[in-house]
Amino acid sequence: MNQQDRGERLHKVLARAGVASRRQAEEMISAGQVELNGQLVTALGTKVLAKDRIAVNGIPIKQEKVGLYYLLNKPVGVISTTRDERGRKSVLDLLDKIPGRVYPVGRLDFDTSGLLLLTNDGELTHRLTHPRFGVEKTYIAGINGPIGKTALDKLCRGVWLEDGKTAPAKVRTLGKEPLRGLNLLEITIHEGRNRQVRRMCQAVGLNAASLKRIRFGPLSLDRSLGQGEYRALTAEEILSLRRQTGLPS
Ligand code: URA
Repeated sequence: MNQQDRGERLHKVLARAGVASRRQAEEMISAGQVELNGQLVTALGTKVLAKDRIAVNGIPIKQEKVGLYYLLNKPVGVISTTRDERGRKSVLDLLDKIPGRVYPVGRLDFDTSGLLLLTNDGELTHRLTHPRFGVEKTYIAGINGPIGKTALDKLCRGVWLEDGKTAPAKVRTLGKEPLRGLNLLEITIHEGRNRQVRRMCQAVGLNAASLKRIRFGPLSLDRSLGQGEYRALTAEEILSLRRQTGLPS
């Protein structure tokens, strides 16, 4: 069979298997990290069939035939990385009835709850998390103490953190939460630095006692989804994420 007739491009297959974005997968191929049927491949146009054996850095990769996309209402007390040296429960332990492996799209801290997407689509994950694509994320922070106008203005303009100035955020107050009496602050950002919202709050003198993500790009957290519950995304929702990040419909 001539190379042109063979299946799909290797970097696309690697991206769908969740290994990396398409661009990163191309770099891995060029760098000699990828083997096809036991042979090193460095040619970027290489195409593969479903029966081909692929390995990255010597580790066999399972070709995913279908895209898997889920929305989880992450509870507090669960990590959103896939591995933890302290053996704590991971979000993957909650998605116990799905037909393949998925990876979290970005991360939510151990003590943050709310909307977390999980997928095996490496290209979409890359675009949803890379600051260049500017996907907005909205959080509700429960603030211990009053929220002054000065603090709100500073958040709107962007604040200095140890890793640089943040982009301007959209903020609004939502009144008091009845249970713990926390003052609720809605904040929308389009970056994804480590513990960014908590650090932004701290930098303007606000103490975020709780944090929940309620929106990621075009998707909102369903009220009907209990803590720790998840559901598959609809075709429409997957399309909206693709459109938002400039991928073809
Ligand atoms: N900002 C934070 O501080 N924590 C999160 O989990 C997400 C955004």
